[in-house]
Amino acid sequence: MNNQQYYTLVTGGSQGIGRALSMECAKRGMNLLIVALENEHLNNTVEEIKDTYNNILIHSLGIDLSKKEAAQEVFSWCKENGFEINILINNAGFGRSGWFEKIPLEMYRTMIQLNNQALFELCYHFIPMLKENKPAHIMNMSSLEAYLPTPYKAAYTATKHFVFAYSLALREEMKQFGVNVSVLCPGSTVTNEDGLKRIQSQGKKAKLVVMMPEPVAEIAITDLLNNKQIIIPGRVNKFIAFLSKRIPIRRKMRLLEKLFRSYVQEEA
Ligand SMILES: NC(=O)c1ccc[n+]([C@@H]2O[C@H](COP(=O)([O-])OP(=O)(O)OC[C@H]3O[C@@H](n4cnc5c(N)ncnc54)[C@H](OP(=O)(O)O)[C@@H]3O)[C@@H](O)[C@H]2O)c1
Repeated sequence: MNNQQYYTLVTGGSQGIGRALSMECAKRGMNLLIVALENEHLNNTVEEIKDTYNNILIHSLGIDLSKKEAAQEVFSWCKENGFEINILINNAGFGRSGWFEKIPLEMYRTMIQLNNQALFELCYHFIPMLKENKPAHIMNMSSLEAYLPTPYKAAYTATKHFVFAYSLALREEMKQFGVNVSVLCPGSTVTNEDGLKRIQSQGKKAKLVVMMPEPVAEIAITDLLNNKQIIIPGRVNKFIAFLSKRIPIRRKMRLLEKLFRSYVQEEA
């Protein structure tokens, strides 16, 4: 890989797992294009990376990826500035839990637009460039929920199933062109202060199944560069995925409903 010439583009690279992925890439000497909402998180992350790793090139674009023309704008920004990418990391996304019909429809539209449409369109626009810059990689962010359809998070779970299936199929199509497609399926990952406090108060059991963004990112980038098809960070998460395929679906869904009922119990 020629680091002077090519960039890794990370969406949602200003906070959470995306920020950790950006940091991990910078640590490995990979040039970066960080695309996220225009705010102080983006500026702070870019400044921190510049201060820590002065051997890489880094540029950022503040943009709302849930807007219709966003993917095209990201691509145009790269073309206009001569940024050639050989790695595309589609990480930006969010979820909501609760009774399906109580969440505003507009929220669902934004979620689907960001988690699916933007990811899909970024692949669409950048694949011709990636084919030119092979060996190239795409890593799309799904979730362990791709193995566990989660009641009370039905729409979010569905967006992650879309990413999972789309990435597996696209991978086979892209093989002959030197573009490697991986799908990342992290389990529960602590990405904010509230989450951290909640886990600390829940004791050992919770700590066992939850990961911090940094190890998730380290595993993800290593596996991406090794062209792994499905990336599941953490032994416990791997075991959950393994087990989920062996439990009959009706039983699995009943179990999941019980496990996640707490998402709506406060609302009932
Ligand atoms: N955390 C988990 O437990 C977990 C588990 C499995 C999968 N995932 C997936 O991993 C990805 C990252 O999750 P996370 O927990 O790290 O989330 P996060 O901490 O909320 O970070 C999301 C990142 O995306 C950016 N972003 C949000 N909306 C955007 C928009 N409309 N346009 C452009 N950028 C936008 C955010 O920018 P600002 O925050 O600066 O606004 C931030 O940089 C998501 O796709 C999520 O579904 C998360």
